[in-house]
Amino acid sequence: MNWHVFFNSQLKKVKPYEPGLREEQVRAIAQTNSIHKLSSNESPFPPFPRAIEAMTACLPYLNEYSDGSVHELKQALAEKHGVEPSQIVVGNGVNELLCLLAQSCLDETSHVAYCWPSFVVYRMSAQIAGATFDEVDIDADGAYDLDGLRAAIRPHTKLVYLCSPNNPTGGIVKREQFAAFIKAVPRHVCVVVDMAYAEYVESPEHLDPMAFFDGKRPLVVFRSFSKIYGLAGVRCGYGIAPVPVVQAIDKVREPFNVNTVAQVGALASLSDAGELERRRTENSRQRARLYKIFQRLNLRYYQSEANFVWVFVPDAQLIFEELLKRGIIVRPFAAAGGLRVGVGTPEATLATIEAFEHLFC
Ligand SMILES: Cc1ncc(COP(=O)(O)O)c(C=O)c1O
Repeated sequence: MNWHVFFNSQLKKVKPYEPGLREEQVRAIAQTNSIHKLSSNESPFPPFPRAIEAMTACLPYLNEYSDGSVHELKQALAEKHGVEPSQIVVGNGVNELLCLLAQSCLDETSHVAYCWPSFVVYRMSAQIAGATFDEVDIDADGAYDLDGLRAAIRPHTKLVYLCSPNNPTGGIVKREQFAAFIKAVPRHVCVVVDMAYAEYVESPEHLDPMAFFDGKRPLVVFRSFSKIYGLAGVRCGYGIAPVPVVQAIDKVREPFNVNTVAQVGALASLSDAGELERRRTENSRQRARLYKIFQRLNLRYYQSEANFVWVFVPDAQLIFEELLKRGIIVRPFAAAGGLRVGVGTPEATLATIEAFEHLFC
């Protein structure tokens, strides 16, 4: 077999997604038993108690397929966002929805644009489709260059992504910036706002894409249950989109792409606003402790509205490895000279502070 010609030729350009290190891998090198995984922007806390209860209760019924229409969850999400259930699409995480959206509209003649660094799936899904892409560098403060992004739009551009808060830098697109941007984007371009970390945001200036959602304008907003809701392992994300986008994704998705555990866990999570607030507050408290140590050690970092902080260090790969020895798993971005440090439990923060003090004092 000549595998070289067997596969979709576009795959030659695609680098598989690299997950963060697993705890077991780190146990072999760490000089401590307490390992803190701060590399995948997960919640350090379990799913909401109501979600655990609902997910446990559905286990005896898993012999049946899940509800392929995701009826109840779509109803609840439509109500939450003031749209019609027909304008909601649910997926096996936002990751799947990003890929399905790209699959449904991109080919070799298409182009997409986004700021960089950002979530690598925007690039991967374009590459798989054979589309071309522009990556517009963020500026020195970590902010999006929206004028640059607007200037990258071409006649064959189909998708423009905004990730807010941005992974891996943590900054947000502000309300007025977004308003100006979306007004300037030509109508043949679909603006995709990835808000996987939106529930962590405290700034009153955060963009509000739903103020521009009228069901006609090509605008898609993605939200995830993987982050503050702590459901990364069951996989559930959703999009608010014009009906034609939902219908196109329905054609390319797997019929039962959202499993039953995910559907009931997500639905139960939505009803616990108190737990959400507690987690947002705790995240801010721990993030502030990280800022403090970085300030004390004279390490530059970006202000974050998410559950991770980008910090510049002299040798990102080396510091990453030194942190591993102390049981702290972060994500190095060696070429950019930074580390993305997840916000964890109070114990994880303390261990991170002690490790940074040890390395930089
Ligand atoms: C910006 C961004 N979008 C989407 C995702 C994927 O989310 P999900 O777990 O819902 O697939 C991630 C995951 O880290 C992310 O950082």
